[in-house]
Amino acid sequence: MMRRTLLIGSGSYLPERIVTNEELAARVNTSDDWIRQRTGIGQRHIAADGELTSDLATKAADRALQHAGLTAEDVDVIVMATTTPDATFPATATKVQANIGATHAFAFDVQAVCAGFVYALAVADNFLKLGQARTALVIGAETFSRILDWEDRSTCVLFGDGAGAVVLRAADLGGPDAQSWGVLSTHLHTDGTARDALYVDGGPSSTGTVGHVRMNGKEVYRHAVSKLAAVIDETLAANGLTASAVDWLVPHQANRRIIESMANRLEMPMSKVICSIERHANTSAASVPLAFDEAVRDGRIKPGDVVLVEAIGGGLAWGAGLIRYGAPVMIKSGTVETAREEVVPIT
Ligand code: ACO
Repeated sequence: MMRRTLLIGSGSYLPERIVTNEELAARVNTSDDWIRQRTGIGQRHIAADGELTSDLATKAADRALQHAGLTAEDVDVIVMATTTPDATFPATATKVQANIGATHAFAFDVQAVCAGFVYALAVADNFLKLGQARTALVIGAETFSRILDWEDRSTCVLFGDGAGAVVLRAADLGGPDAQSWGVLSTHLHTDGTARDALYVDGGPSSTGTVGHVRMNGKEVYRHAVSKLAAVIDETLAANGLTASAVDWLVPHQANRRIIESMANRLEMPMSKVICSIERHANTSAASVPLAFDEAVRDGRIKPGDVVLVEAIGGGLAWGAGLIRYGAPVMIKSGTVETAREEVVPIT
């Protein structure tokens, strides 16, 4: 038997309000054409007044648990990636824990900005593989609109709000292909010397204010293309695979041109790339699980598919992960309903 971390469910949530490029063009000197051509973004969802990151995360978490056929009582750990917490402390994950009623789960936040979900996935995977937890809820949630300078056209057009979550479940699998299921590997990197390329000009210890996003777009772009390419290569090499083994690329949704550059590198047609940037813009830590959940629910990503996730953001922090989605039993049933039976609880 081999201990695996299976990804058996996902959920997401977007605030109701949609803000189009045209609406932004009425506020700052920009245009739908410029935004679409440079970024691929057509609209973004923006949280309502009083709607907090924890509210978005709670809805995504509930949906992910329901999808996995589990309850909040089954959850041992909540790892939440966010850069827009409800408060400086306590961790926003603690609010989600209370909201969903995951009474015995321990819960904490991970801060790796746009790469946050990949970091949180790696953290949770390690808890499960080491036997410290059996079921993990991994969430990426943001109200990025709250830290934007709405007068700065070079940043305010790029981001949106949203949340995505996945359920990981430890399983002891046997059989010849047991090791090919679940989270196959994760790879994380940081370059703190490039942190001025993208940062927030505030914080509890520096200014005592929350601050706003500041970015050197060209520099971030340059780093993104080279660093994501390198971590994709690293991920495939670690698994002894070539790009042809990957069924789906679920990239961080920052800029359509960066996404296309990764697809080219993998020699993947865009039909194999989950791209939701046109409707969601960049939702930071939420972007990968949001796109992943949409593709699971519309039937593109199926149990047994090999999915490559990658992201880069402020820090700079970046990473990638390779996942074979679902559990072996889901291949037969086509649903997650029966996945629970196959999962061997840790004693
Ligand atoms: N509308 C109209 N014009 C604009 C806007 C706007 N919203 N924003 C900037 N411009 C202008 C600039 O002022 C500049 O004008 P100038 O030539 O008169 O000086 C011109 O457009 C070109 O600006 P650049 O910054 O050179 O445009 P570029 O082609 O680099 O595109 C962009 C900018 C889209 C930000 C790009 O650099 C990018 O996507 N970088 C990656 C950054 C990113 O994705 N950040 C997200 C967070 S990190 C992450 O998630 C990876």
